[in-house]
Amino acid sequence: MQKPVFLENHQVIQPSALYSEIEAGLLAEKASISPKFLYDALGAHLFTAITLVPEYYPTAVETSLLKQYKSEIAAAIGKNPVLIDLGAGDCKKAAHLFESITPSAYVAIDISVDYLKESLEKLQSQYAQIPMYGIGMDFSQTLELPDTITQAPRTFFYPGSSIGNFLPTEAEALLTQIKREALGGGLLIGVDLMKADHVLQVAYDDPLKVTAAFNLNILRSVNAIIDSNFDVSHFCHKVLVNQSKERVELYLEALRDTTVAWHGKQRVFKKGELIHTENSHKYTIASIQHLLNQSGFQALKIWTDPRQYYALIYAQ
Ligand code: AVJ
Repeated sequence: MQKPVFLENHQVIQPSALYSEIEAGLLAEKASISPKFLYDALGAHLFTAITLVPEYYPTAVETSLLKQYKSEIAAAIGKNPVLIDLGAGDCKKAAHLFESITPSAYVAIDISVDYLKESLEKLQSQYAQIPMYGIGMDFSQTLELPDTITQAPRTFFYPGSSIGNFLPTEAEALLTQIKREALGGGLLIGVDLMKADHVLQVAYDDPLKVTAAFNLNILRSVNAIIDSNFDVSHFCHKVLVNQSKERVELYLEALRDTTVAWHGKQRVFKKGELIHTENSHKYTIASIQHLLNQSGFQALKIWTDPRQYYALIYAQ
């Protein structure tokens, strides 16, 4: 049986760097934890569960766009590129492209490496003829691919509106790196569009409380990394739609005065105090076009749904 190749030592995710990053966030006046820490093993599964929640429209709309415009997308990309999937997760979305673009290789990158192994092995058994590579990498820092990955043409696939986790300036830096690494190839990106408060509110605070569980789980993920003693029951999930900054903001709110301690350090949270855990930036067609242009991309093809909830864009 064909096995995916894991490029284990490419970018070793430094435990000490993650530790310092979490510590600095917890000790800041306005506490924060980076959203990348949402994706431990349980978090990765909880995110997959979110994508099945009816109120969380981005995944469903993106999947229907990928299916509906499959041929146009394939025509824009061209045949047999190396397909590089950023934040591959369950690898389900890339598989939609396999039939139409027949990639010469598939490279799946994700910070949640154990989950990636699970999903990539499954996918490889379904598509034995496509050489597959897995890389555990935190590309929020730098995006440098190992030399083992074949040269041009490269197509980056950045679905799910994950670009929304970055501030616009950080997003531009990442897109600029993608443009450079694409070696003349392109980028197929999914972007969530700005919309009415109530649609966003319920998408990020669903009545089944799957998103609440996903957000609260970051405290357990942090406990495991820095050996802290967060009590999950002392916090609740909070969502704020920030129209002026064009983003949804996720927080954990202290339900009572509570203290978290780790290795001789501690942080007191007063009742009502917030820990910021995620920004999910929303774009307009004009603002994402502008951002892509600023990052060096020129030709853009745009597909969107009738409600204009979401856009799929191919940029070169
Ligand atoms: C994976 C970053 C695109 O912002 O919609 C879903 C993460 N957070 N529900 C998003 C998320 C809460 C998601 N991204």
